[in-house]
Amino acid sequence: MATVMERIGEFERLPDLAETVYTAPLQKPAHVGDDWLEPRQTDYSAEDDRVWDDLFSRQMEILPGRAATAFMQGLEKLDLGRGGVPDFEVLSEELGRLTGWSVVPVPMLIPDHVFFWHLANRRFPAGNFIRTRETFDYIQEPDVFHDVFGHVPMLTDPTFADYMQEYGRAGWKAMRFNRLKALGALYWYTVEFGLIQEGDGIKAYGAGILSGPAEVVFATQAQSPNRIMLNVDRVMRTDYVISDLQPTYFVVESFEDLYHQTVERDFDRLYRSLSPGFTYANTAVIDLDDVLHRGTQEYHLRGGRGSGAQPV
Ligand SMILES: [Fe+2]
Repeated sequence: MATVMERIGEFERLPDLAETVYTAPLQKPAHVGDDWLEPRQTDYSAEDDRVWDDLFSRQMEILPGRAATAFMQGLEKLDLGRGGVPDFEVLSEELGRLTGWSVVPVPMLIPDHVFFWHLANRRFPAGNFIRTRETFDYIQEPDVFHDVFGHVPMLTDPTFADYMQEYGRAGWKAMRFNRLKALGALYWYTVEFGLIQEGDGIKAYGAGILSGPAEVVFATQAQSPNRIMLNVDRVMRTDYVISDLQPTYFVVESFEDLYHQTVERDFDRLYRSLSPGFTYANTAVIDLDDVLHRGTQEYHLRGGRGSGAQPV
């Protein structure tokens, strides 16, 4: 077994990728280096700051009682409602004191192996730009509101912070086996769209749910979607929806459980047994599932986004 120092050493520099590893051909802007980091955070206009404040107030009307306790506490610890787009350096100092993480600015979506490398070193890459009034309700590319409001509060939770780092380390291994789709599903169903069982009900901790108005109530309370207890192997075999509400959500009983399920799983063996695509449809409920709520799928059966179907 590798010593702690050997393990840290493994992630000091960007990995060399073998030719047998397939990656998305993203065009790197000329002004960023191999780490894809912006030299400094953008200067935001007064209107940009108002967009942040309005997005913040809207979420705060919906989230209490529906967002995970750890998330709500994280918002408070970092004082993300102090007004305007947060300064990454101030944020990183506060976050550094709490869990050793920092927030670093990137221009756009960055290549997977660079993203994993930053996570493995407890750096969270956050989009620099903020959406406009025209794209206030929905944007496809993650902006600073999604990345900072949605993701950063959870990094104040020590166990979740460790989970994110382990995820980054696991990413490199998944790349070597060309099984990024499978590991991507785990990110999707936890970091982006995860739910947690708390004493007084099911709450959301995923950034994809918490950074927008449409999915918070749907994910935690609607009759349509399935809510199934999370099993890492099962989740990594499950397809997901990118541009609509999820037909299925996976629920953890605690972040400790999520951390242990992920760290203790021998991903080498799992990747060797997985086929390149997904085994289960995103609406599937299978024999082995521990089902909390079997969804009606009414929303998706009526046509989902763009059909006028109500998210019920
Ligand atoms: Fe995200």
